[in-house]
Amino acid sequence: MIRRLFGSVARPQTLAADPAAPAVEARALRKRYGRGTLAVEALRGIDLRIERGELVAIAGPSGCGKTSLLNCLAGLENDYEGEILLSGIALRALSDATRARLRARTTGFIFQSFNLLPTLDALENVELPLLIGGMRGGEARRRARAMLDAVGLGTRLDHRPAALSGGQQQRVAIARALVGRPAIVWADEPTGNLDSEVAAEIIALITRLNAEQGQTFVIVTHAADVAASASRLVRMRDGQIVDDSARAAPLVATPRIRAAD
Ligand SMILES: Nc1ncnc2c1ncn2[C@@H]1O[C@H](COP(=O)(O)OP(=O)(O)O)[C@@H](O)[C@H]1O
Ligand SMILES: [Mg+2]
Repeated sequence: MIRRLFGSVARPQTLAADPAAPAVEARALRKRYGRGTLAVEALRGIDLRIERGELVAIAGPSGCGKTSLLNCLAGLENDYEGEILLSGIALRALSDATRARLRARTTGFIFQSFNLLPTLDALENVELPLLIGGMRGGEARRRARAMLDAVGLGTRLDHRPAALSGGQQQRVAIARALVGRPAIVWADEPTGNLDSEVAAEIIALITRLNAEQGQTFVIVTHAADVAASASRLVRMRDGQIVDDSARAAPLVATPRIRAAD
């Protein structure tokens, strides 16, 4: 779990990220689980390009491949066909260790089940990725406090997860995902365990952070409220993208002519 959340503990090394490249790009991406007659084709030819600073919702029915796509894009999978580029870097060419390092340095994760460490308080949960990344204690504490302030939890620093509501736990998880200032934040059904009012607050928070801090957010959801707040909606079905509001948007606004009128 620690490794999945924070990646490798090794020190960063030079990886030639292209600052002009899209945040993430998938080309002809296919993902299969299992072999032979039991094989499941979870992703069946995905082409997707997400620019820096975008807030993208990926929606679709359960089992359509949303989590598989997120895990592939985030560099958590190495068994796939096609190409994935994170900040212009082709993931396939990287060793597991280098990919983990790139992930740790450039990405944050938010999960449906929060995944906070139960024995640590809110401040310690948020500090942890910074400390693992080698930051000094005082600086890590200062940044973690500021990030918890930004998500509205400045008065709950010493609360352990069990003493926080679901919405508050998700705020801690969001602070933890953002505290290292990643270029891109992945969220897999971040409001799935929350009631609709709290879910709306979390989405408003993510939308504000996206606007204020300019991070790229890719949010998997089957909730309409998330999809409606995102600036771009990608719809999936049976392992394919069936609709992409960015791709569908006309380059120049033209009057609509409907044949039925
Ligand atoms: N580890 C796995 N092993 C086998 N099949 C899997 C695995 N993970 C997902 N699948 C299958 O791949 C398909 C897509 O799953 P998933 O990406 O989890 O969809 P979603 O997140 O949209 O619900 C489903 O048919 C699911 O059963
Ligand atoms: Mg899923």
